[in-house]
Amino acid sequence: MLLEGRRVLVTGAARRVGAALAEALAARGARLALHCHRSKKEAAALGKRLGAVVLSADLADPAQTARLARDAVRVLGGLDVLVNNASVYAKHPFGTATARDFDLQMAVNARAPLLLTQALAPALRKARPGKVVNIADWSGKRPYADYAPYCASKAALLAITQSSAKALAPHILVNAVLPGPVLEPAGGKEAARRWRAAAKATLLGRTGSPADVCAAVLFLLEGSDFITGAAVPVEGGRLAA
Ligand SMILES: NC(=O)c1ccc[n+]([C@@H]2O[C@H](COP(=O)([O-])OP(=O)(O)OC[C@H]3O[C@@H](n4cnc5c(N)ncnc54)[C@H](OP(=O)(O)O)[C@@H]3O)[C@@H](O)[C@H]2O)c1
Repeated sequence: MLLEGRRVLVTGAARRVGAALAEALAARGARLALHCHRSKKEAAALGKRLGAVVLSADLADPAQTARLARDAVRVLGGLDVLVNNASVYAKHPFGTATARDFDLQMAVNARAPLLLTQALAPALRKARPGKVVNIADWSGKRPYADYAPYCASKAALLAITQSSAKALAPHILVNAVLPGPVLEPAGGKEAARRWRAAAKATLLGRTGSPADVCAAVLFLLEGSDFITGAAVPVEGGRLAA
């Protein structure tokens, strides 16, 4: 599939990796709808620069998620590609995660991608082929001790990727990208220490960058129409280490 003129919805696109994805897709000529939640100013500035539409929604809310799907199809006049990137990442040392913590991460990181894929499937089916890329995490396969809700949500996203790939073949191709450490999260000294440890734990002994995630997403979109149900690691060999 060539991205030139293709209609793409990217969730969590205002900042960080999502903004890098938006830039990379715009550079390939895609017509974008950028989703944001709280980062409305950043999204508006990026949307203006890229000539993209901005749509906001709290993806923890199924009604807002459904509205986002409807609005994306309406403003773009259809949809060819969905990139589920938005995510909540929170540390919960064992014994501290509440039901609310668990439900929020499952809702945003796993339920919303499934609801969006379901709602957008009729539009994506017309794209021949439509494509969905779910941004998961290598830790969905090898969970960290202090991030049970997050890792569980990313494991669920991997299951949703495979289940959707089966349900939607051959008209819509559904894949996941599993980043390792590509962009340091906020969180002070403790986060910085974890970041250095994460770099050391890769086979390559270093962190990656959002550009590495963009390269994998572009490959799944433009490089081949014969890949579906796959989970592409972009983690410096962390899973093999
Ligand atoms: N950074 C890394 O090194 C790394 C490593 C492994 C996997 N990943 C995965 O790669 C993706 C991008 O990473 P990132 O670090 O750029 O992500 P991030 O900054 O943690 O989050 C991306 C966006 O998710 C949106 N979001 C959060 N809660 C939301 C809600 N309730 N409703 C709607 N949107 C919500 C936020 O949008 P607003 O700002 O508009 O509120 C946020 O900007 C994520 O899926 C992440 O899990 C990243």
